[in-house]
Amino acid sequence: MSAPKKLFIKTYGCQMNVYDSERMAEALGGEGYVETKSPDDADMILLNTCHIREKAAEKVYSELGRFKGLKAEKPDLKIGVAGCVAQAEGQEIMRRQPLVDLVVGPQSYHRLPEMEAKAREGEKVLDTDFPEEDKFEKLKNRPKAKRGPTAFLTVQEGCDKFCAFCVVPYTRGAEVSRPADRILREAQDLVERGVREITLLGQNVNAYHGAGANGDMTLAQLIWELDKVDGLERIRFTTSHPNDMQDDLIEAHGTCAKLMPYLHLPVQAGSDKILKRMNRAHTAESYLRLIERIRAARPDILISGDFIVGFPEETEADFQATLDLVEGVKYGTAYSFKYSTRPGTPAAERPQVDPKEADDRLQRLQALLTKQQREVQDSMVGRDVTVLFEKAGRFPGQMVGKSDYLHAVHVADCDRAIGDLARVRILSSGANSLAGALID
Ligand code: 5AD
Ligand code: SF4
Repeated sequence: MSAPKKLFIKTYGCQMNVYDSERMAEALGGEGYVETKSPDDADMILLNTCHIREKAAEKVYSELGRFKGLKAEKPDLKIGVAGCVAQAEGQEIMRRQPLVDLVVGPQSYHRLPEMEAKAREGEKVLDTDFPEEDKFEKLKNRPKAKRGPTAFLTVQEGCDKFCAFCVVPYTRGAEVSRPADRILREAQDLVERGVREITLLGQNVNAYHGAGANGDMTLAQLIWELDKVDGLERIRFTTSHPNDMQDDLIEAHGTCAKLMPYLHLPVQAGSDKILKRMNRAHTAESYLRLIERIRAARPDILISGDFIVGFPEETEADFQATLDLVEGVKYGTAYSFKYSTRPGTPAAERPQVDPKEADDRLQRLQALLTKQQREVQDSMVGRDVTVLFEKAGRFPGQMVGKSDYLHAVHVADCDRAIGDLARVRILSSGANSLAGALID
C-alpha cells in the first residue's frame, strides 16, 4: 500500500469555514489524504479563505507567496484556494499567483476529488459554480471517526439581506436552508461519534426555513427536534439577524433546557441614519426592545454582537449613538471592526470616513466593550454553572471546558473526562477565563 498523501488546510474567517474545512478534509480523505499540521510535508495545501474585509482577503496572497520555496522543492505539491476569496476573485487568483493549481468556491467543494485528480495531471482547475446538487448529501459517506465533544453543523447558507457593506450575498449566494431530516441525521451521527454540543451554523441562521415532515420549519422547530436527540446535551446557533428573531425562537430560549443562554445578535451600529444606509431594516430602538423581550424570556442570557465603525458618512454624533446603544445592552462579548471598503458593494461608492478618525472610534468602542465583557465575566464569580469539559488543562489534574454562557472555565483537581458535563462553582475571574471547583 502506498503511503497516504498529506493535506494541509489553513482556515480563515468564520465558523462556517471551519465546518467547510472539515468537509473538504473528509472529501479528500476518500482519495487517500490524511491531514497534517505542517505545510512542509504536505502533498496538497488548501487555503480556505475569507473575503469579508480587505485585510482578510489580502492575507491569502501573502500566505500563497510564502509557499514559493516549498513548491520549488516539491514540484508535485498542489496548492488550492477555497472559500469566499475563491468565489469572489476566481480566475484572478491564478493570474495573480501562478503557484495556484486549483480554485474552488464554497458551493463546489464536494467536487474536490475530481478537481484534485485533474490537478495531479497538471491541469489548472477552477470551479466557482452554484450547482444544483446538494453538496452536503454528496459528502455523506464519511468515515465514522470519533470526535471531540463540540461540533458545528451548517443548517443554512447564504444571505438575502444585502447589508450595504457586506460581500456575503455575493460570495455565498442566496439564502438556502437544508432539509430538517438531513440535519437531524447528521446530528445523530455526530452524537454517535461523541459530540455533546452542536452549534447550528448559518450566515442568517434564524431565517432558517428548511423542509420538514409537515412543510417548512422554523429554527425553533428544528431546535425542538434536536432537543429529542438522546445524548445531545447542548444546542447553540449563530449568526442571527435581529429582523428574523421570531417569537417561537425567543420563547425557546426560556423553555428549551438544551438551548444555551447565549445569543450572538449583531446590530452593527447605533445610529438610525447609519442603520438605514447600511440597509439593516431595523432601528436602534427596535433592537433594544427585542433584547428586552429576549431577556424577559431568559433573564440570564449572555448577549454578543458585531459592530462596524467608520461606515461611510458616520459622524461623531452617529458614533456616540453606537456607544449609547452598547451602554443600553451590556454585551457579554462582542466583535468590532473598522469599516473595510468592499468593491461591488453599495457602500463602497459612498464618501468614506477619515481612516484615522475610524481608528480612534474603534479604540473607544473596544474599550467600552472590553469593560462590559469584563464586568459580565466577573459577575459569574460565586455562581454555579454547568461546564462541558473539552480538554485537559496545563496543570496536572486540571480540566478546561465551557460554561453555558460560553466562558472558558478551568477546574483544578478534576476527575472528569473530556465530554463530561458537571456543575461547577465559579471562584475567580481571570484575563480571559474563569476558574472554578466541582460541586458534588
Ligand atoms: N467592513 C467591516 N466589517 C464588516 N463586516 C462585514 N462586512 C464588513 C466590512 N465591509 C462585519 C460585520 C459582520 C461580521 C461578520 O463582519 O460586523 O457582522
Ligand atoms: Fe452580510 Fe448583512 Fe447578510 Fe450578515 S445579514 S451576511 S452582514 S448582508
